[in-house]
Amino acid sequence: MPETSTEWQSAHLARTYLEGVRGAIPLAEQQLDVLLTIVRNWLPRLGTVVDLGCGDGILGRTVLREHSHAQAWFIDISPAMLQAARDALPDGARARFVLADLAQSDWRDRLALPGPMDLVLSGFAIHHLAHERKRALYAEIHALLAPGGVFLNLEHVASPTPTVEALFEDHFVDHLYAYHRRNGNRQSREDLARTYYARQDKEENILAPVEEQCDWLRRIGYEDVDCFFKCFELALFGGRRGV
Ligand SMILES: C[S@@+](CC[C@H](N)C(=O)[O-])C[C@H]1O[C@@H](n2cnc3c(N)ncnc32)[C@H](O)[C@@H]1O
Repeated sequence: MPETSTEWQSAHLARTYLEGVRGAIPLAEQQLDVLLTIVRNWLPRLGTVVDLGCGDGILGRTVLREHSHAQAWFIDISPAMLQAARDALPDGARARFVLADLAQSDWRDRLALPGPMDLVLSGFAIHHLAHERKRALYAEIHALLAPGGVFLNLEHVASPTPTVEALFEDHFVDHLYAYHRRNGNRQSREDLARTYYARQDKEENILAPVEEQCDWLRRIGYEDVDCFFKCFELALFGGRRGV
C-alpha cells in the first residue's frame, strides 16, 4: 500500500478539486491544445500512455480521444480520484487504473507495464513531491520511455518573486470567481479569495521554477526540452528520449 499520507487521499479534497477548481484553471483548453499538438507531431502512432497523478484522467482521456488505438495507464494515490477517472472514461477497455504513490520509487512495479511507454503525462501532481524526489522521478520516467518517447508535465511552477506570485494569485482568483459565478455560486470574490488562500492542500505545494526543472530534464538526458506554454505559475514543459 502507498506509504505517503497526503490530503489528496481524502474523497472530500478530490471532490473540491474536481468540482470547484479544475474548471477554473486559466487557459486550460489552450494547455490541452498545445499538449495535443506535441503528441500529434512527435508520436503520430501513439500506442501507450501513462497519466501520473491523473485525478479524473483529464490528460490521458484527452489523448485517448485523439488516438483511438492507444492504451492508457492512469495512476493516482487517491482511490476517489481513480474512481472519478474510471467514471469519466466511456471506453474502459483501453485503460488500467492503478493506485500508486509517486513518492515511492516502486510505483513502476505496480503498473505491470508490457514494455517501454510512448508517452508519460502528468498534470499538476509532481509539485507535491520534494525537489530531490521530483528529479529522481524524472529519471525514472526517462528510463520508462521507449526511444523517441515523450514526457510532458503540465505543472504548477514557482514564481521568481513574491510580487510575481501575487500576480498569479490575483489572476487565478479572477478565474475561480468567474467559474463559480457561471455555476450559480453567489459567493463574493473576497470570500472566494479567502477560501482559496486558506485551502488545505496549499502547504503540500513544493514549487520549483520551470527553468530549473527543464535543466534537470536536460541533465538526465531528455532531448528537445522546452517550456512549451507558460502563464504565470502554470507551465507545460518536457522533452523526449533520444531514438
Ligand atoms: C491537482 S490534482 C491534478 C489532477 C489531474 N492530473 C489534473 O490535471 O486535473 C493532483 C493529483 O495528484 C495526485 N497525487 C498527489 N500526490 C500524489 C502521489 N504522491 N502519488 C500519486 N498521486 C498523487 C492527487 O491525488 C490528485 O489526483
